[in-house]
Amino acid sequence: MSRKGGRSIRFVVVTTNKGKAEEFREIFTRYGFKFRVEPMETPEIQSMDLREIARNSVLYAYSVLREPVLVEDAGLFIDSLKGFPGPFSSYVFKTLGIRGILKLMEGVKERRARFKSALAFYCPITDSVHMFTGEVEGWIAEKPRGEKGFGFDPIFVPAEGDGRTFGEMDVEEKNEFSHRARSAEKFAKWLSERLVEIPPPYE
Ligand code: IMP
Repeated sequence: MSRKGGRSIRFVVVTTNKGKAEEFREIFTRYGFKFRVEPMETPEIQSMDLREIARNSVLYAYSVLREPVLVEDAGLFIDSLKGFPGPFSSYVFKTLGIRGILKLMEGVKERRARFKSALAFYCPITDSVHMFTGEVEGWIAEKPRGEKGFGFDPIFVPAEGDGRTFGEMDVEEKNEFSHRARSAEKFAKWLSERLVEIPPPYE
């Protein structure tokens, strides 16, 4: 990284989700990383474990791109629905959507939920997948609020916030609390530490 003796590694963030890309961009730019976003579809295996899904996707992405590559998988886990939609969040968002989740939550007082993120980085130098996770606790709002963000953002209120949903926050604000920001910050710190040891041609 430039702040550490001018060294850097270029990596690719693989996602078709513009919201995710923007969140990563805000964090990785702050660290001075050299990266690009590749809007490539990766197959998602069925698993109850986000880490397994992310691991599988990053290996696929590397097999195509042959560069250091990062893939993230996330999900919304609602306590009163026994963790649903969890690893099925993408499918549930496309089918039931926000309205469907609110319908399932109608009259439910216990609205605790959390977002989880699993970020997988494949490094050709170590020839391994490095995994970083993040979580944010919160609750499901009674009604959607806000036009910002993506996915379930308009119905998720982070517990550490001021009562606004993620949908009412700018990227910078969401990145103060979010599951993705937490896994991305862990990755960024890890990479910053490692970069001093990385030899050319990754210099
Ligand atoms: P993915 O598989 O990581 O793309 O995420 C699965 C689904 O979870 C997405 O389609 C979104 O509906 C939802 N999701 C993941 N992360 C977030 C987030 O940060 N905000 C809102 N919804 C999210």
